Amino acid sequence: MSASQIALLNIDADWYESVKLCLDTFYDRVVTGGFISFDDYGHWQGCRQAVDEFFEARRLPYKLQQVDYTAPLVPEKHDKADISNLGCGERFHPEWVNLDLRPASPGVQHWDLRKDLPFPDASLDVVYHSHVLEHFSQPDGLRFLGRCRKVLRPGGLLRVVVPDLERIVELYRQALSDALNGQPDAHFAYDWAMIEMYDQTVREFSGGEMVRFVRELSPSQHSLIRSRLGGELDRMVPSNPQSSAAPGSRHPQRIRE
Ligand SMILES: C[S@@+](CC[C@H](N)C(=O)[O-])C[C@H]1O[C@@H](n2cnc3c(N)ncnc32)[C@H](O)[C@@H]1O
Repeated sequence: MSASQIALLNIDADWYESVKLCLDTFYDRVVTGGFISFDDYGHWQGCRQAVDEFFEARRLPYKLQQVDYTAPLVPEKHDKADISNLGCGERFHPEWVNLDLRPASPGVQHWDLRKDLPFPDASLDVVYHSHVLEHFSQPDGLRFLGRCRKVLRPGGLLRVVVPDLERIVELYRQALSDALNGQPDAHFAYDWAMIEMYDQTVREFSGGEMVRFVRELSPSQHSLIRSRLGGELDRMVPSNPQSSAAPGSRHPQRIRE
């Protein structure tokens, strides 16, 4: 640590402008893992406003710990946000908390997202889930979104990835027009578009009708499905050695358990 770096920054400046000036001047010299103590955060509104505005403007994650009534409140400066990837499948970041019903690796915690989430309220900076919401029934999905919100800190971020309806509708319209023009195989593309469009919105179990549909296809019909699902297709088709048993697959099997 150099002489210009700060391990413990104690700010006892009461007023909005004074606290703001201290933060603007000294915050960047506080080392990662260092502490900042705000006397009067719990008493003077100006102090509290300056602190909250500063952290919000920089979108910095921080943890406040109350020491006594007038504070000091001591936020621990941390550069690493608390992030969770829910239903991560095989794509996960080792520094995040990764949960899945079928963990793809020891770095992923087994968890059924239809239950409460394993985090205290207001404890995460970011909640991320990609292609998971459409695996729940509507009531389970609504409960799940409510829980995601509860575990986020104020100002936290919920990032949700779901199938692209516009793209699916384009696929449907093209398949319909091809079928009407008598193009071979157009009915198959049409049936698939119907499954993507409707089944994903009303299914009561993970994977819905997609798995059954895909498993009944001949390999020569796989190219359209592969263009939509990528490598997930290999995990859905049982005859393939890397198939349904693989954890984290896009639509591995019914999950009513
Ligand atoms: C389509 S995959 C998406 C995987 C990954 N998020 C991605 O975008 O590539 C859906 C994932 O959700 C998981 N999943 C489905 N229902 C779940 C549940 N009730 N609890 C936890 N994970 C679930 C599956 O095991 C699977 O890994």
